[in-house]
Amino acid sequence: MRIDRLLVTGAAGMLGGVLRRHFQGRFPHLRLSDVAPLGAAAAGEELLPCDLGDAAAVDRLFDGVDACVHLGGHSVEGDWPTVINANILGVINVWEAARKAGTKRILFASSNHAIGFHPRSRRIDHTAPARPDTRYGLSKAFGEDVAMYYANKHGISALCMRIGSARAEPEDERQLATWQSLPDFCRMVEAGLAADYVYEIVYGVSANQRSWWDNANAARLGYHPQDDAEAWADRLTGKTSASALDETYQGGPYCSPDFSGDPKKIV
Ligand SMILES: NC(=O)c1ccc[n+]([C@@H]2O[C@H](COP(=O)([O-])OP(=O)(O)OC[C@H]3O[C@@H](n4cnc5c(N)ncnc54)[C@H](O)[C@@H]3O)[C@@H](O)[C@H]2O)c1
Repeated sequence: MRIDRLLVTGAAGMLGGVLRRHFQGRFPHLRLSDVAPLGAAAAGEELLPCDLGDAAAVDRLFDGVDACVHLGGHSVEGDWPTVINANILGVINVWEAARKAGTKRILFASSNHAIGFHPRSRRIDHTAPARPDTRYGLSKAFGEDVAMYYANKHGISALCMRIGSARAEPEDERQLATWQSLPDFCRMVEAGLAADYVYEIVYGVSANQRSWWDNANAARLGYHPQDDAEAWADRLTGKTSASALDETYQGGPYCSPDFSGDPKKIV
């Protein structure tokens, strides 16, 4: 697919920053958006601040956009008003704007918390149904369905990336299974922009020996991760939650009825 203008939402965020650096100079126009400050524009960058809950602003954001990597949104558990604005209205506004603008493809940052209530004892693949563990996870499951609806009905191809724990290094035993290195995250996005598909689900995870996810569908689409969290196993084995429930399900602490959105980020 020829991409003259790529839009990255959530561009002021952690993964948005990674992609902003990765894509520097790659496309004739790299449009970056966030509700948070984006700094100064480099050559080829277009900065368009916008709240994803504002439909008219999101319509303007998609003007002339060929493809979008949709990372913007509330990225941890939150209260309903926050989740509804950023992640429910946000995805509706994004896909509706894409339809009006003729955008051909959206890569959607879904989450392992859309499938958080699958037990760790069961290896699942891209066909696993949603089992959300939080309001946040529910919003990601909703986003996956919005993506499917617009793919089937309006031909906007969509890759739903059920990201595990994307960060520089894994931080606890759970992340020995769920970690995705930042270079592997970029490899997944590259594959998602290049491959031929209508609607697909992949797991955003490195080639971890302990992964709970069969990611053959991602490999089929050209994602070949190079990193493995096992390199941190000596340091992180035994760094677990005190709660047996947290250690039973793939979503970890997000599965607890008491988990209300700790400000400490556990994704
Ligand atoms: N990092 C991970 O391990 C991980 C795991 C699973 C899913 N994800 C998803 O990937 C995406 C990026 O994650 P991240 O770790 O970079 O998170 P992040 O919080 O650093 O970035 C999200 C960005 O979205 C922006 N945002 C929030 N509400 C908004 C709104 N109403 N309008 C416009 N922008 C808004 C924030 O300002 C922020 O810059 C998120 O959608 C997140 O849910 C990330």
